[in-house]
Amino acid sequence: MKSAVGRKNKQGTEFEGEYASLLREYATGGGEAVLGRAYELGRRAISERKSLLELVSLHHQAVGQLFQSSDDKKFQEHLLRTSADFLSECMSPYEMAQRGFQDAVKALRQINETLEEEIKRIAYSVHDEAGQLLVAVHLALAKLAQELPPAQKEQVAQIEGLLSEIEKHLRRYSHELRPTILDDLGWIPAIRFLAEGVSKRAKLPIHIEAKISGRLPSTIETTLYRVVQEALTNAVKHAKAKNIWIRAWLKDQVLHCSIRDDGEGFDAEAVQASTSRKGLGLIAVRERLSAIGGTLWIESSRRRGTELLIRLPREENHVNSSSAR
Ligand SMILES: Nc1ncnc2c1ncn2[C@@H]1O[C@H](COP(=O)(O)OP(=O)(O)O)[C@@H](O)[C@H]1O
Ligand SMILES: [Mg+2]
Repeated sequence: MKSAVGRKNKQGTEFEGEYASLLREYATGGGEAVLGRAYELGRRAISERKSLLELVSLHHQAVGQLFQSSDDKKFQEHLLRTSADFLSECMSPYEMAQRGFQDAVKALRQINETLEEEIKRIAYSVHDEAGQLLVAVHLALAKLAQELPPAQKEQVAQIEGLLSEIEKHLRRYSHELRPTILDDLGWIPAIRFLAEGVSKRAKLPIHIEAKISGRLPSTIETTLYRVVQEALTNAVKHAKAKNIWIRAWLKDQVLHCSIRDDGEGFDAEAVQASTSRKGLGLIAVRERLSAIGGTLWIESSRRRGTELLIRLPREENHVNSSSAR
């Protein structure tokens, strides 16, 4: 650890030294070629994970030192004029990285929207097409039963009973896949509907406390629904939980949603850092949230279970703004 810190400091001072000497070169007559090197220095600053604030403060320091190193008024004036160009050039890789990030977020949003459309299509086709096929099977069986002796009629009735069960499950799954409630009433009622189904199937209580009213833009509501859906699936599939709690509240203009279970817990850091991971659920959750400006925090321990905490700043979520829909 000590040596890592030492290395970092050495790297930091090397960078500062190079910055100051390149700035001096530029201020004492260096032209475009020096600006090109300033750009490269900016790229290096990014790869060395320097923040913009660090870069600006380092720049101020370098300018101050150069300014004091000479009494020549002309040089001082020239330095002040040119140093701004130098800094902009050095910062332009940050600008490009920022644009790249915005493009990636936009692409991610589009992918999610396409995915959502596909889910809708599958949900409707399970509901409508599979539903219609089952109705046809029911009719065929009823016709067949008419021609059968009573003992076999009983068997057909049993098959019909099973078919009705399948129909019920298919209808429920297709609704949970993309609940119409989500569009009609919003994410909280949709989550209540989802939780009711999961709770019945998994035979565990899901406690919901939601102190939020009003609607959010539909992309945000869909994202929140998907995140809670994945969290519930994980709690049922992996945690062997006895209870699940879902809470949603607004605090300091930030929407919070927590999904907690009292199950076995897991090593969240190791799972998230691992490249050999099998599951993509938590990665997808993080990416979906990042596409809408939200963040995910996971706390898990072997004894106390797992909590997923979603935070979404108000400017991103437009709480109560029905016009944003
Ligand atoms: N609530 C939870 N309780 C216990 N373990 C969990 C929980 N959520 C996630 N995990 C662990 O994290 C891993 C990754 O989860 P995820 O990314 O959703 O992928 P998947 O569910 O497809 O395995 C899971 O395989 C499981 O080991
Ligand atoms: Mg999962």
